[in-house]
Amino acid sequence: MEKIHSLTGMMDLISSKADKEDLSNKVFLTEKLLKSIFENFSISEIRTPALEDTNLFKRSVGDTSDIVNKELYSFLDKNKKSITLRPEGTASVIRSLIEKKIDGDTHKLWYLGPMWRYERPQKGRYRQFYQAGVEMLGYEEGISEFEMISIICEINRELRIENPVIKINHLGSNETKKNFCDALIKYLKPMKSDLGEKDIARLEKNPLRILDTKDPNTQKILEKAPKISNFLPESSIKMLNVIKDTFSKDCEINIDYSLVRGLDYYTGFVFEAVSSNLGAQDAYLGGGRYDGLCKQLGGKELPAIGMAMGIERLALLSNAVEETKSSISFIIISSTIAANAYKIAHDLRSLNKKISIDVQLSEGSLKSKLRRANKDNADYAVIIGEDELESGDVIVKSLSDQNSEQSNMKLNDLRDFISNLK
Ligand code: HAM
Repeated sequence: MEKIHSLTGMMDLISSKADKEDLSNKVFLTEKLLKSIFENFSISEIRTPALEDTNLFKRSVGDTSDIVNKELYSFLDKNKKSITLRPEGTASVIRSLIEKKIDGDTHKLWYLGPMWRYERPQKGRYRQFYQAGVEMLGYEEGISEFEMISIICEINRELRIENPVIKINHLGSNETKKNFCDALIKYLKPMKSDLGEKDIARLEKNPLRILDTKDPNTQKILEKAPKISNFLPESSIKMLNVIKDTFSKDCEINIDYSLVRGLDYYTGFVFEAVSSNLGAQDAYLGGGRYDGLCKQLGGKELPAIGMAMGIERLALLSNAVEETKSSISFIIISSTIAANAYKIAHDLRSLNKKISIDVQLSEGSLKSKLRRANKDNADYAVIIGEDELESGDVIVKSLSDQNSEQSNMKLNDLRDFISNLK
């Protein structure tokens, strides 16, 4: 029969006890560490559906963006309504606040979950990927900009990311953006025929996005183009410099006046975190201020800033190691004593929540079970057979120290031993 494969660009993640460096393990550890960072910053969780009305993304991410133009997973449901697997989380968060009529309050929210973009898969770029995001809602430009960079520094530190660089820019007010775009169009129009097809389309629909071009010819032309820094108010340039000075002890921060983001909703401060260790897809995090989005989606005037990070990209970069805790492989030699032996394991678990007790469920010889315990990197094997059950003794064998002898322990001593493990 023909085998069924997973879809292109979509991975299975299966954790492995044997190989801690495995990407799945790193993904799960990354998620755990991120959640604890978000808790440290007193940010609350929000969970929104994976499927949304297609119009939500058209009206937020923008129909000139690559995401909406080419990458949406959109379908007609049984009612012929166009629905879309979310390509990002920000639009859903705002939709949810508007729907619950809490778009007039302040919120600090985080989310984590799968996102879908129909992109060409390569290292660090998938069609289903996981994102964690943080949105600070109801806060005007000011302290929240600092909080964003502070969270990024904490992520870099906790995940021990190598060569992190935070790029920051300011897109100014709508007026700044308009004046800058007019100047850019005026400069580029006479050279239109030298631009690639994609950049010509950008020039017509969303000129700011030309700054993000990958076309070397356009990049050359842009060297002499007007710079957004010439259009920004003094206060915005000052803010970039203050942020750079405040955090540069913790992380390299570069002011990059050509940084524009791939989604249409940004206004004001924008940023991306990159690492040269990632290769071509070097951004592991991106975000910025989006003060107009809530109103644009039918809600109140709600100043907001946020960011999202690619979990797989963070996992590829992470050098964090799981906090070690003792692990016990619990071996029941014969199924005839399963109930009584399992009861011992069940009672032991309640004595120490910090350790793990893995009861081996399969039938097999003691030798094969010990092999399994070693393969799983267990620290100890606790072995119980019929004789042990009768005498009230169990066998404890250290697996981390191959030279140590196995010892017999009375059940009470085993309880003390388990209670004291770290
Ligand atoms: P974004 O820059 O489109 O921003 O995505 C954020 C991060 O998601 C990227 O930096 C990258 O690490 C990861 N990512 C994006 N596409 C892929 C992919 N195909 N495969 C693997 N990882 C990927 C946003 O999504 C905004 N919603 C961020 C935001 C939140 N802005 C304000 N609030």
